[in-house]
Amino acid sequence: MVSTERDVSRGKALSIIDLYKHVRARTMQIVAPLEIEDYVIQTADFMSPPRWHIGHTSWFFETVLQAHKPNYQTYSEDFLFYFNSYYEGFGARIERPKRGTKSRPTVRETVAYRNHIDEQMLRFLESVDDRSDVLSLVRLGLEHEMQHQELLVYDIKHLLCDQFDAPVKPAPASAVKVHGMAEIEGGLFWLGYKSAGGPAHSKFAFDNEKPAHQVFLQDFSIDRVLVSNGDYLEFIRDGGYQNFRWWFSEGWEAVNREQWHAPLYWESHDGEWMIRDFTGVHPVSQKLDEPVCHVSYFESSAYAKWSGKRLPTEAEWEKAACYSSARQDFPWGDESPDLAKANLFENGHWSVAPIGAFPEGATAHGCYQMIGDVWEWTTSDYVPYPGFKSEFDEYNDKWFVNQKVLRGGSFATPQLHIRSTYRNFFHAHERWMTSGFRCAKDL
Ligand SMILES: [Fe+2]
Repeated sequence: MVSTERDVSRGKALSIIDLYKHVRARTMQIVAPLEIEDYVIQTADFMSPPRWHIGHTSWFFETVLQAHKPNYQTYSEDFLFYFNSYYEGFGARIERPKRGTKSRPTVRETVAYRNHIDEQMLRFLESVDDRSDVLSLVRLGLEHEMQHQELLVYDIKHLLCDQFDAPVKPAPASAVKVHGMAEIEGGLFWLGYKSAGGPAHSKFAFDNEKPAHQVFLQDFSIDRVLVSNGDYLEFIRDGGYQNFRWWFSEGWEAVNREQWHAPLYWESHDGEWMIRDFTGVHPVSQKLDEPVCHVSYFESSAYAKWSGKRLPTEAEWEKAACYSSARQDFPWGDESPDLAKANLFENGHWSVAPIGAFPEGATAHGCYQMIGDVWEWTTSDYVPYPGFKSEFDEYNDKWFVNQKVLRGGSFATPQLHIRSTYRNFFHAHERWMTSGFRCAKDL
């Protein structure tokens, strides 16, 4: 059986079948604490009901079966309509803001659909040759599912927040006091994912991370730590949300239109700022040393300007994260992430960890928590790299306009899913996802 990925925790190679079972099971573990009524509610246009995620990730694999399994019989035309997300090439679909307006298919029917697709997929995978090209498509389906696992965490937080009975393990305390900026030498730098060779499904990167190409960087400095709630509170107390001079024009419009006074999930109780998360409502004063989270690009940029700095470009971020004396896969070296190096989904904290809580994950330059905790905003537009070739229609290529790149993964990102070259992207006003930032400066 083909070896696709190392299971870090058990130190052994996983077959594509084991990987399939592992990833598919985790989706259902995430939704397990939900009550049946929770699965169908849509609390905002930008989120999706949990029932939709568990069906849509199965729909993705049904499209693989339709294209590659001889004599495959489509499960239900109605399901194809409801569970397609945005793929024009796969036919008509329900509009995203209307996913929560239907009670059918029921949750029970959706789970039955999911089980049916799993049975069909596992039988199909047993029949597939180890070198078949379809395995890279299956791997894409599993990466897609891990993206939806992270979206499920965002959406369940928006839906229920502290009412959700998340299996939370407390985050470690800060182990080191860190502050200041790291100075990074510029020059020519290879940005992006360099294919290591071997079967396409064994080492995965999205097409938007390729090809690796040279860019020139000026010398720069970058914050060794993420901007904290304590830092951000100073910006709020200094009237940051009331002063147009820190904001882009569109950001200032958003502040006024949306009546922003603080990050999403911050609440003012009798004049004291509180943060609501999966474990309850906490005074910000108890979370001053945690990374600020749920801020938009507009808010991150305004803070950076107020503090006399700027946000990094994605090339600066990647160089800071991947270079010591030579290129390495992760901030700490070439080994895959583990529980001691980064706060990712497997850590089970369901929250950011205090700054300095993961000293083993630091770079040689002393930058902390570049992987995990929060996706970090960069100033870079989400556009194709020079030489980009689309590997799957409508997956990444049709989003190359009007969005900003975020780097590094969050506490909701699975370990297997994150890379230092990973390019996430959101619109400048969005903040329901796990987004934060660190600042940079010219030298
Ligand atoms: Fe999707």
